[in-house]
Amino acid sequence: MDMDKLVSLCKRRGFLFQSSEIYGGLNGFWDYGPLGVELKRNVKEAWWHDMVRGHDDLALLEGAPEPFEMTGLDCTIIMHPQVWKCSGHYDLFHDYMVDCRESKKRYRHDQVCGRWVEAKGQTVFIATQQGGEEGLAETQQRALKFFNFRGKDIDQLQWHGPLVSLTTVKDFSRVLGPEAKELGTLTEPREFNLMFKTYVGALSGEEGAAFLRPETAQGIFVNFKNVLDSTRVRVPFGIAQMGKSFRNEITPRNFTFRSREFEQMEIEFFCHPKSLPDWYKFWRDRRYQWYLNLGLEGERLRLRDHDREELSHYSCGTADIEYAFPFLPPGEFGELEGIAHRGDFDLRSHMEGKLVRQGDRLVVELDSEGKPRHRGSGKDLSYRDDLTDERFTPHVIEPSAGADRATLAFLCQAYTEDEAPDENGKMQSRVVMKFHPRIAPIKAAVFPLVKKDGMPEAAQKIYRDLKKCFNVFYDEKGAVGRRYRRQDEAGTPYCITVDGQTMQDQTVTVRDRDTLRQWRVKADDCTTEITRLIEVGCQTPTRGV
Ligand code: GAP
Repeated sequence: MDMDKLVSLCKRRGFLFQSSEIYGGLNGFWDYGPLGVELKRNVKEAWWHDMVRGHDDLALLEGAPEPFEMTGLDCTIIMHPQVWKCSGHYDLFHDYMVDCRESKKRYRHDQVCGRWVEAKGQTVFIATQQGGEEGLAETQQRALKFFNFRGKDIDQLQWHGPLVSLTTVKDFSRVLGPEAKELGTLTEPREFNLMFKTYVGALSGEEGAAFLRPETAQGIFVNFKNVLDSTRVRVPFGIAQMGKSFRNEITPRNFTFRSREFEQMEIEFFCHPKSLPDWYKFWRDRRYQWYLNLGLEGERLRLRDHDREELSHYSCGTADIEYAFPFLPPGEFGELEGIAHRGDFDLRSHMEGKLVRQGDRLVVELDSEGKPRHRGSGKDLSYRDDLTDERFTPHVIEPSAGADRATLAFLCQAYTEDEAPDENGKMQSRVVMKFHPRIAPIKAAVFPLVKKDGMPEAAQKIYRDLKKCFNVFYDEKGAVGRRYRRQDEAGTPYCITVDGQTMQDQTVTVRDRDTLRQWRVKADDCTTEITRLIEVGCQTPTRGV
């Protein structure tokens, strides 16, 4: 699938716009348009329903080791700065960046790669931001230009190995930066904290400094005791939260995939350390299945276990759910969600102070004077099991998803080019967004065939009835074939048409977006029919894909 076509459809049909576009846009920030907001809202509502409200029946059917409870939270974006000191984000949540003195561009150190090449007695590293075939082609072009060669001189370039990461390069004086003409213009890598800083109240100095949350998870940990004390939940149980998170990404890119402002859907699931492996497996498999059920194709979706060195500072085990986004080179996958075992790192850090790993143990990090580097709250965040009288600090399994990344994956998956007959039965090419009916922005569109003979009035009545239950759309403008096409592009699974026959027998046609099948139902039964169709669609996971 051509990503440029999807990006242009998203703008043309109102799924996604660049933020502040009339002022030239702001890199890493995106607005959802009228169709996009419905799509993303449906994704979030499906998550909240399946993971929080509907979980009891669903989870046991889906193989939960034992019954459990789920509850939700909605915490603030700005929290006490100590939260981020104890969570480790203040000290550790950074990327390394390099600046180019010539182009004035800034890059993430680990996102630049390149190739060593030798010619005219000189060996240089030609850097690029592209991987795969595109990276190879770009380094070749730039090497020719750098050595002042023409295309026919290509054999004079001697390549030393494949594309490798800039992180493998020690001597930057021999590096040609991704957008530079001269060697040695990249600075040494520097740490760059990804948290956005702001100032609270009238205090403008460091006293008032605070951060926009880079993840929703910490709001859950610091409210763990509040939830225990205000509800009757017992371990094992989960707390869910969705909301905005902010990261000052050095190189936001790939449409909404890496943004600076985005939404997360996170669960912190608290359990006894002994039952961890079962719960870890349950959440891994359950979350993977959730994406399949909503229409992501098995071949483009995978579960990948992290290598040890990839694990976050707190994690003892993590799996990623990844999707083969079309903007990635063939064979590469991008992360949709991480399912991490966080142990008791977070609860203990907020009790005792920032923890660090010492061999197999987590211990409070001390400063040069032997005092805790970042003090915890001192509050008791342990749990007492009233049946066994055992007191312990629960361990945590965290399925952490991105609402925007999931929405982007559903957009990529839905984009289809095929053919459908026009009014005269002639096959015409069309673009159709084959969303799962549950997340489709508009569930049904209602058309009068022509704007006369009582058809608009009959169609408007159906529209108003349907509107009580679903997001529906009324359209009476233009040829009916054109109206179908517009709804295909919006991903509307069903179109209802009022025609001459409706005036005689009170039936209407229903058209299925994917199969193009048409059939008649009683006008008064439209709400029942659309409800039934959406339910059937929801039981058929990969429908329309
Ligand atoms: N609490 C754990 C945590 O935040 P993460 O892997 O950094 O883990 C979880 O983020 C999810 O949030 C990712 O899998 C991704 O879907 C989403 N996400 C993270 N950074 C993002 C960004 N810059 N833009 C869009 N989504 C992002």
